[in-house]
Amino acid sequence: MRLSVIGCGYLGAVHAAAMASIGHDVVGIDVDQRKIDTLSQGRAPFFEPGLQEILAEGIASGRLRFTTEMSAAGDATVHFVGVGTPQQKDGYAADLTYVNTAVDALLPFLSPGDVVAGKSTVPVGTAAELAPRVEATGATLVWNPEFLREGWAVLDTVDPDRLVVGVTPGEAGERAADILREVYHPAVAKGTPFIVTDRPTAELVKVAANAFLATKISFINAMAEIAEVTGADVTQLADAIGHDVRIGRRFLGAGIGFGGGCLPKDIRAFAARAEELGRGESVGFLREVDAINLRRRDRAVDLVVQALDGAVFEKRITVLGAAFKPHSDDIRDSPALDVAVRLHGLGATVTVTDPAAIDNARRMHPQLTYVTDRDEALTGADAVILVTEWDEYRRELDPGHASSLTRGRIVVDGRNGLDAAAWRAAGWTYYGMGRP
Ligand code: UDX
Repeated sequence: MRLSVIGCGYLGAVHAAAMASIGHDVVGIDVDQRKIDTLSQGRAPFFEPGLQEILAEGIASGRLRFTTEMSAAGDATVHFVGVGTPQQKDGYAADLTYVNTAVDALLPFLSPGDVVAGKSTVPVGTAAELAPRVEATGATLVWNPEFLREGWAVLDTVDPDRLVVGVTPGEAGERAADILREVYHPAVAKGTPFIVTDRPTAELVKVAANAFLATKISFINAMAEIAEVTGADVTQLADAIGHDVRIGRRFLGAGIGFGGGCLPKDIRAFAARAEELGRGESVGFLREVDAINLRRRDRAVDLVVQALDGAVFEKRITVLGAAFKPHSDDIRDSPALDVAVRLHGLGATVTVTDPAAIDNARRMHPQLTYVTDRDEALTGADAVILVTEWDEYRRELDPGHASSLTRGRIVVDGRNGLDAAAWRAAGWTYYGMGRP
């Protein structure tokens, strides 16, 4: 099938390449010439495992191309809109400028029978607002949210755990759903749940899923706060409650909390939308979820300060990690970098290392010192704090080896990812999050 993908960020670039990898003819369109040039050379503009390979293959096969010309969408019959919906500069609501601009720019190139599939995470009700403009061209607007996780984006796109398509009742909607079944044929053929629903439900599925995940993380972080004043261990608590299949252990990782380009902004936009709908109190708990999450960053900073006898001034602190999570170079709302910046603000000499995110981090926070080599970063440190649980630090860093490099023996485990017993055995004073 001939597809266009409007917006070539994390979502769109992966979607375009993944759709080409399953046999479609795809054009990716973005206003950013530099991004388009990089993608056209078959290179990934950001770190995402597996993306480089499918991009290069797609370009070489001739089935995948990238352009800044919206007119290229004219050849396609299905158009995915995957532009960003960032938090507004002066509030919590989502900024829909890019969605509106992209859809308006696409309108002149739509033909009757085309399908426009919104993938961006939007406030519920957005599709209803866009629909009259799109449907005046004879095209059908559906909402087809994306659930990809950074670091697993290629896999999540080619082999998702579910597909959701929001359509209007009637023939056009049914036909559009069938077209999307064809687009996603390998996943549909293997029995992936394909949920056809109305557009508001589809829009809500995405924000509800992210709100639930954020709530789950903040729940366990709230338990960590209780554990801290009772001597309990939140990791053992999570293991124990996680065995209940109704609860499950995933996303019960207590630590410095969630960040990234999705969860923080999505829960805020959801709360803002609920207020607009007169149902603010229904999701009032999301403010608490947000507040708990942000408190964990304070807690990590406090632990380092306490461990260094109340003063980090002129102390050398090595920060392991900058990305908001492992397997990503994304530093948007990264709790890891936030902790590093706060320690720097308290007068510490902060050295940050990360396997993938240093370039992005340096652009955003040039005041910090960045060192690519992990061992060089550790050399001479008074204290070490793990803030992104890359395997390079969590599994592969031997505490005995680390002590041969550092000056102090203080380790703060901001992700509860280290083997506490092994670090203690090697002579370190270990501090976890919500652990005695
Ligand atoms: C998230 C959703 O998972 C995905 O479905 C949606 O499409 C986009 O938003 P992503 O932002 O890639 O994906 O990251 P995710 O893996 O969900 O992690 C989010 C944050 O939560 C990270 O900062 C991570 O470190 C943190 N986290 C995750 C925890 O603090 N504890 C956990 O147990 C799990």
